[in-house]
Amino acid sequence: MDYTISEELFQALAGEIETLKKERKAIILAHYYQRPEVQDIADFVGDSLQLSQQAAKTDAEVIVFCGVHFMAESAAILSPDKIVILPELNAGCPMADMVDAEGLRAYKKKVPGVQVVCYVNSSAEVKAESDICCTSSNAVKVVQSLQGEDILFIPDENLGRYAAKILDRPLQFWPGYCKTHDRLSKEDISKAREAHPLAKVIVHPECREDICQEADYIGSTAGLITYAQNSENKEFIVGTESGILHRLHQVCPDKEFYLASERLVCPNMKSTTLVKVRDALIALSPRVTVKEEIRVRAKEALDRMLAL
Ligand code: 13P
Ligand code: SF4
Repeated sequence: MDYTISEELFQALAGEIETLKKERKAIILAHYYQRPEVQDIADFVGDSLQLSQQAAKTDAEVIVFCGVHFMAESAAILSPDKIVILPELNAGCPMADMVDAEGLRAYKKKVPGVQVVCYVNSSAEVKAESDICCTSSNAVKVVQSLQGEDILFIPDENLGRYAAKILDRPLQFWPGYCKTHDRLSKEDISKAREAHPLAKVIVHPECREDICQEADYIGSTAGLITYAQNSENKEFIVGTESGILHRLHQVCPDKEFYLASERLVCPNMKSTTLVKVRDALIALSPRVTVKEEIRVRAKEALDRMLAL
């Protein structure tokens, strides 16, 4: 059991949450990077794209988002008539904070006509200034859907470079990156390969380019899970946030997974606990809302992505 609380406490909190969830007509969505026990009480666990698709189609009255702020904000943008709750309001994403609407407006002024592809790891204000959103699982498809020369990819430079390389297409990049994936070094990969010579190296495209070059497979969290499931290989070195190991062990109980570095832990993703989920369901707070004028414009960029 990889829970960060005792089995006894898990059972007690899970029971309380189940009752409250029914009372509140709530759905609990969780990202693969969440604590194992949080993933296990969720109605749906997925990658960023799957989570926004769930948020867009749910008929629940309350969405409890176990993830980081931009994910809950996307749910509020897509489902304005729902109450969207982020159990830990301080769960932000440092990468999303690396671009702001003012800076983006200044760039667009400098390069008139530039089309902006915005990774969902961004604020609602930034999405509102963008042409189309993408996630790590559809970035290539989204860029491919655009005509024209001037395309700016924000805020993740690594994901942008990955898409540009696959499509062999020049893109403009914003100097943003994920502080968690950036901790992974080439040395970590070679050490892991030495210790596990039969393992395949699977990494997230938020990793730096020099790390992606070392990988046998690059994909979103859902992509990495599907790859491991379908692979004949029995061992994998995993280059993404530690939370994914929980699902990998669940769906591939006969396979071995080694985290490429112990430092692959996102503190923001880990700040949601079962106690906070329970308390949030009781108080129906902290809520995430988006100003209507921003929401409508941000939704256009998200809808264009979802339509693909
Ligand atoms: P995906 O689950 O879409 O691969 O996103 C990774 C991530 O870093 C979310 O913060
Ligand atoms: Fe942001 Fe990286 Fe944490 Fe994802 S893992 S929430 S991109 S800091």
